[in-house]
Amino acid sequence: MNEPLLEVTDLRVDYKTHAGPAHVVDGLSFRVEPGETLGIVGESGSGKTMTSMAILGLLPRAARVSGSVRFEGQELVGLSDRRLRDIRGRRIAMVFQDALAALNPVMTVGDQLTEAIRVHRRQATRRELTTRATELLELVGIPSPVRRLAQFPHEFSGGMRQRVMIAMSIANEPRLIIADEPTTALDVTVQAQVLDVLGDVQRRTGAALLLITHDLGVVAGLADRVLVMYGGDQIEQGGVEDIFYTPAHPYTSGLLASLPAMQRRVPGARLHQIAGQPPAPTALPPGCRFAERCPHAEPGRCDRAKPEPVAVSATQKARCVRAGEIAAEVTR
Ligand SMILES: Nc1ncnc2c1ncn2[C@@H]1O[C@H](COP(=O)(O)OP(=O)(O)OP(=O)(O)O)[C@@H](O)[C@H]1O
Ligand SMILES: [Mg+2]
Repeated sequence: MNEPLLEVTDLRVDYKTHAGPAHVVDGLSFRVEPGETLGIVGESGSGKTMTSMAILGLLPRAARVSGSVRFEGQELVGLSDRRLRDIRGRRIAMVFQDALAALNPVMTVGDQLTEAIRVHRRQATRRELTTRATELLELVGIPSPVRRLAQFPHEFSGGMRQRVMIAMSIANEPRLIIADEPTTALDVTVQAQVLDVLGDVQRRTGAALLLITHDLGVVAGLADRVLVMYGGDQIEQGGVEDIFYTPAHPYTSGLLASLPAMQRRVPGARLHQIAGQPPAPTALPPGCRFAERCPHAEPGRCDRAKPEPVAVSATQKARCVRAGEIAAEVTR
């Protein structure tokens, strides 16, 4: 029986607020296998960033984290800061949305890159560090890497800075890369290039990738499996083709219908938006989180208790009491 690389079980993140407790992550469970790419998709506020921060132990003290995060068999929830620091950057790396904010403006890219390598390889010589830094820039497709190492972040374009972030993230050959909206700040052409680099780096290093985004289009080309989040929990999970061709949850269908590329496939189709707002984390409904906005909701059936995940195939499950019927309808 092979062990997953990352296993998240019943993860909860709560904040105290004036409006009462905010359940920003609410019982989320999933696993990531070694070398796999899992896309986590959801609207703004669905708890994606909170989930990645909870995995890395980066949430402020005000956040209460419970449940389990097992990485390479080790429990990370409640682990000391010192042990977590050792895992972060070395075994698990993070690529953030805003590369400019994550890079130090007064340090050269080369110094930042060698520093990232040195933290976990104290005995490396100056020359070894520079060689490795050059290799890393080459790997992420930055031309003239030797000259580039001596430059500062502001001398790089947005796409190039994000490549530097990716280079830093893989400096110590992590087993898991968590990329939270890695391309959201970039324009569309550069976005595609950076995603290519991320996919290429992931294949070459064999690291698993947790790709977090609000954009289903981003996961389409890279993910093996997709988890759709809504109101702090997963609403559907499946292989990338399951999600795109036979979505079983009405929310997933709604997200798909709002993709511009999908509109082009169906001539005459209008850009569809899901009416209404997601529930506030301080006022999660007792039943299905999506019921209020759902065109398929049945009073008395959907608003009582949070639906259990229903398996619609060996690879796909959805938290919807009507998942079976809906998946069948799409296939027809
Ligand atoms: N300090 C805090 N106290 C209470 N609630 C918070 C706090 N920080 C964030 N939240 C809430 O947590 C929820 C989840 O936020 P999160 O940043 O994880 O969303 P997200 O899915 O990453 O969204 P986005 O796509 O905009 O990045 C949001 O409703 C947010 O308002
Ligand atoms: Mg976020």
